[in-house]
Order: sequence, then structure tokens, then C-alpha cells
Amino acid sequence: MNELGEAAADAVLARLRNAHSPGTRPVLGVATGSSPLSLYRALARRRNELPPLRAFALDEYLGLPPGHSESYAEVVRREIVEPLALDAGHVAVPDGSAADPERAAAGYEAAIAAAGGVDVQILGIGNNGHLAFNEPGSALDSRTRVVRLEESTRQANARFFASLDEVPTHALTQGLGTIRAARSLVLLASGEAKADALAAALQGPVTEQVPASILQLHPDVTILLADGAGAGL
Ligand code: GLP
Repeated sequence: MNELGEAAADAVLARLRNAHSPGTRPVLGVATGSSPLSLYRALARRRNELPPLRAFALDEYLGLPPGHSESYAEVVRREIVEPLALDAGHVAVPDGSAADPERAAAGYEAAIAAAGGVDVQILGIGNNGHLAFNEPGSALDSRTRVVRLEESTRQANARFFASLDEVPTHALTQGLGTIRAARSLVLLASGEAKADALAAALQGPVTEQVPASILQLHPDVTILLADGAGAGL
């Protein structure tokens, strides 16, 4: 895992360095989930190599009380902002408790655009081929919006909650079009549970049924696999 994280950190740091233009902060897109954790640990060890950044998270559950330990705002704070010593004022997560979530989604897109777009987007992949919370059937040019979670996704994420009932049914997520607009993508995956999704994403047709198949459309994708995730390739 250390190796996976170190290799991913090399890719991310090199791209952030290249992205740097005077007077602006490079923009890092961050993902939650277990897959990128080794990368965050590597970046924490090498935090002196990180330029001052802006960061945008991919997604957030809808309807969890603010401060809930499994809200992605909290996960991002705990697993990314604090270990990497990022400036919390420059880190954004979609507002899952907004009174008008669609409006919050539009505002989030506008904030990414105002920051100059994402330079490097870190990604994991769901067992069903989802990216962020873009479930199968998501339009390939979709933008940040409210989505309903598949039951299989709720079940996969139930391990973080006391029971399946507590897992939200909806989320705010950057769209596949938003993710594709990032200048570089760095995807990490580990474990055999991801093998079928990765094979479909990388070697099957580009289709809404496999959201991660958009990786085939992007000119700068780095994919780092461990522990059988590449078994289907
Ligand atoms: C969640 C997240 C995704 C993540 C996926 C896989 O549903 N919204 O961004 O890629 O799960 O998570 P893990 O890396 O823990 O397998």
C-alpha cells in the first residue's frame, strides 16, 4: 500500500508543480473512500513538497446533520486537510445540508470554474463502476447535481454507519462532465472487488452504464492498482 501511495503521490506532486502559475493556487480535486488513503498518507509525509493549494471534494451525502463523522466534509477534514496541513479556508466540499441542494450544486460548479478548474483530480472507483457518486446511467457530460444512490452503493458504504438505514439515499456529486474537465486524473484502486469494474471501464465500451469508462476519453489519466484490482485486465 505504501508503494501505491508513493507512486500516486509522485504523479500528483509532479502535476501540481507543472500546474503552478504565479499568483494562483493549483487546484487539487480530492476523493473520499478507502482507495486514496495511502496517497494521502504519502502526501502527508511529503507535505513540504505541496504548494499552497485550493481543493475541491468530489461529493457529499445529502441530509446528514452538519458535523456527522461520516459526512464527507468531516472525512475530508480528518483524512486530508489535517494530515496534509491544507488551509481549510481553501478547501470546499459540496453543501449536503443546503436548503436548496440544486442551487448549491450550481454554486459549486461556479466555484470550481472561478478557481480556474481542477488541475489534478484524485479518484477511486465504486464496485459498480461509479465515479464519485455518478451511478450507472449518469450522463457522460453531467455536471454537479443531486443524485439518488443505488442500493448496492448504500450497502457498500453501510460499513461506515451503525446500520443501512442511516446511509443517506441521496448525494450531491460532481458530474462526469465536471470530472472530465480536470486537466489530469489519478485513479487508485485496490482489491479484487474492483477488478470487474476496472476491466469494464478500461477495456469495454464508453457507456453511461459504466461511469468510469469516461477515463478512456481523457488525455492524461494515471491509474494505480494493487492487490488484484487489475486481475480482469
Ligand atoms: C464512495 C465514493 C467514491 C469512491 C467509492 C469507492 O461511494 N463516493 O468516490 O470512489 O465509494 O470507495 P472505496 O475506495 O472505499 O472502495
